Amino acid sequence: MNLMPLYLSQIPFYVLLAGAAGRKYAHKNGCRPLLHSISPGFLGLGMLKVMLTAARENRFLECVRSYHRAYGQTFEATITGRALIFTVEPRNIQTVLADKFKDFELGDYRKKALLPLLGHGIFASDGETWQRSRALLLPSFVPNQITNVDLYERHVAKLIEHIPSDGSMVDLQDLFFQMTLDSATEFFFGESVSSITDAGSTSASSFTDNFKIAQDGLALRSRIGPLMPFYRDKRFFKAVVEARRYANMFVTKAINHRASLDRAEDNQKKPHKLAEKPYVFLYELLKQTSNETELTDQLLNMLLAGRDTTASLLSITFFILAREPDVWNRLRAEVQKLGRRKPSYEELHSMTYLTWVLNETLRLYPIVPFNVRMANKDTFLPVGGGPDGKYPVYVAKGQEVIYSVYTMHRLPEIFGSDADVYRPERWETLKPGWAYLPFNGGPRICIGQQFALTEASYATVRILQHFNAIESRDLMPFQERLTLTMASYNGTKVALTPVDAT
Ligand code: HEM
Repeated sequence: MNLMPLYLSQIPFYVLLAGAAGRKYAHKNGCRPLLHSISPGFLGLGMLKVMLTAARENRFLECVRSYHRAYGQTFEATITGRALIFTVEPRNIQTVLADKFKDFELGDYRKKALLPLLGHGIFASDGETWQRSRALLLPSFVPNQITNVDLYERHVAKLIEHIPSDGSMVDLQDLFFQMTLDSATEFFFGESVSSITDAGSTSASSFTDNFKIAQDGLALRSRIGPLMPFYRDKRFFKAVVEARRYANMFVTKAINHRASLDRAEDNQKKPHKLAEKPYVFLYELLKQTSNETELTDQLLNMLLAGRDTTASLLSITFFILAREPDVWNRLRAEVQKLGRRKPSYEELHSMTYLTWVLNETLRLYPIVPFNVRMANKDTFLPVGGGPDGKYPVYVAKGQEVIYSVYTMHRLPEIFGSDADVYRPERWETLKPGWAYLPFNGGPRICIGQQFALTEASYATVRILQHFNAIESRDLMPFQERLTLTMASYNGTKVALTPVDAT
């Protein structure tokens, strides 16, 4: 199934030719050729084969990193006939994501791949459509709602109930994925699918299955890129229809609810009650648009962007905590200052060591570890060209720039000679700026960063308040599982000892 690592095969089969106008533009802007421009095998198929094998063996990210080790922070590689620029140089990434934001876009293949489930929502659009989405969604991330930790308590409590108290093995990754689906559906739709307790309705549990099938299909479509028209998996298309139908049901309900409130307001001159409901993201969006398709698109985009990412951050953090007793003990010491009391938002964000732990997980295991942007006009990156790499690099219209956040986060030049070591204490002095991008940067920076960090911090603290020891029940080192995001291939198999048992 793993046809191609994330985004890489979104490559039309043609050879890029800069042309006279391109050469003139490059010359005018002082661009110099990259020191390394590689094309292993016929049309670069050799490199493709190496990457495909690495992806099948769950070591795609290290494979890309090894190319950077061999050819430097910025190099060009021709794969399937197309010249791609690979860069992990922070200044170049800043240029793509921020300084020359308007010169780059997601590219057609990503949009086409995601279209069936996500429509024209924020995660799958560019230009004015994206701007409209962002403007629609941002005001609904009202700070005091995101900081309302009560939203998480019920779901975390259910997760804790499902952790065996007799020291037997549990895969926390499964539980975290269920928990974040439950909290996200409650926050976005107004009703949780309650997957963790099996207490959800039949339609909720089939939504959970359909959403997973649909997401897997989107990841595969993203990988096969130009071969997408041949993708005919009936299960995927059925799951997409069902998942959209489920989300749409909430949209229709909310629209009808608002209409009835409007009528009541007209008749009885009572104040509008919409704002008085418990906070639901969908109801906030409804204040700005009542377009059903648009609302369904955006709900599903938010769910996709927000659910797996937070679950993976927690899963990988606990994967590490089970293997790093010193980190676990230091974190517990910080958490113990709270006793058994639920932490407030302010308390969570004042917990320095917890912040360092999450930062360090996101550094070594960024959940979106690899990304791509396509130039929509002739442009250039500030560095990487010439024999010393200090000159600008020409990027032709239509050319893709691939950036591995995973590799950048492990650069010894920035993070030191122990860059590969998990050491939260490094964050005491570290200020990496654009060299640290777990949430992206520039105008498309993650909208849900605070939401994610609050949920992950809250869940971590509550678990550490209930359990005083953790052991790994997995002999394997970390292996990546890459779909649209990164998770742990072997899950998070651990055993925990409850505080009351000691
Ligand atoms: C640890 C958790 C998370 C990580 C590491 C993360 C990371 C990212 C990254 C790297 C992007 C940029 C993707 C790209 O442009 O290709 C992104 C975008 C986005 N994220 Fe997150 N995210 C997380 C959680 C969340 C949550 C909880 C939500 C919603 C509640 C969310 C909503 C979004 C949205 C809507 C976008 C698209 C923004 C745009 O294109 O303008 N994310 N996120």
